[in-house]
Amino acid sequence: MSKDSVCKKYNLRTMLGSVCAVAMLLTLPAQLVAGEKNTTAPIPEKITINVQASCPQMAGLEPDKKEVKEFSHKLHAEKYLIGKSAYAPRPYTDAFTCAACHAGAQSAEAITGADKCQRLTAAIEKEGGPKKYKQMMHAMCQDCHKNMQKAGESKSGPTKCIECHGK
Ligand code: HEC
Ligand code: HEC
Ligand code: HEC
Repeated sequence: MSKDSVCKKYNLRTMLGSVCAVAMLLTLPAQLVAGEKNTTAPIPEKITINVQASCPQMAGLEPDKKEVKEFSHKLHAEKYLIGKSAYAPRPYTDAFTCAACHAGAQSAEAITGADKCQRLTAAIEKEGGPKKYKQMMHAMCQDCHKNMQKAGESKSGPTKCIECHGK
């Protein structure tokens, strides 16, 4: 939710209006400089990955069977993936790790600024459509962990069903 809409909720318009205006001015520079680099974009900390629950209107998906709760999204983007691109099924660079999972994304803003379900639908279509969703996710996530494990990396991420999906 934007600051703008938070501000609009209040009735004491005149008084709070100026407070909000000042608050918005103060946050503006941060928004302007956010960009190029990974680290300055707002990256969601943890995400529950469940396409059916997050995009119920998406056509052609298999029925919801599994999810990944509390996926450490920000840690992956900013820490786990650094220096590990050799293990990743999808090309990315340390300066732009987002591409490891957000297929075809050219900038963090292209991800954060897009409608999540439209963005996901396009990504899924590009990789063979909704029937291939499970394979697409396993290739993207599990294969990096497997490749790291095979290479003998000490911290390689989980490869067992239960470690990602729970019981
Ligand atoms: C590295 C993490 C990881 C591991 C290990 C893993 N999965 Fe998944 N799996 C995912 C992710 C992420 C999704 C996408 C979940 C979603 O959007 O609902 C997924 C999706 C699925 C789906 C489709 C679920 C749905 O609701 O559409 C099934 C079924 C599934 N996994 C079964 C398994 C089984 C069985 C194993 C072990 C042989 C396994 N997974 C191992 C990450 C993993
Ligand atoms: C290791 C995989 C991975 C990396 C790296 C990654 N993401 Fe994600 N991200 C996901 C998955 C999976 C989802 C859930 C499905 C979706 O929305 O595409 C997601 C969702 C998102 C969302 C939607 C949040 C929500 O509420 O569901 C945003 C915004 C986002 N990512 C931004 C980024 C940015 C910016 C970067 C790079 C700095 C990044 N991601 C790096 C896997 C990743
Ligand atoms: C390029 C490699 C790479 C990709 C791609 C990747 N991971 Fe990981 N993941 C790691 C590494 C490395 C660790 C272990 C980090 C550590 O323990 O310090 C890890 C750890 C994890 C863990 C356990 C520890 C934690 O902090 O959560 C889970 C669960 C996990 N990954 C799920 C996923 C899912 C789901 C995806 C896809 C959306 C994914 N990973 C994509 C490299 C990767």
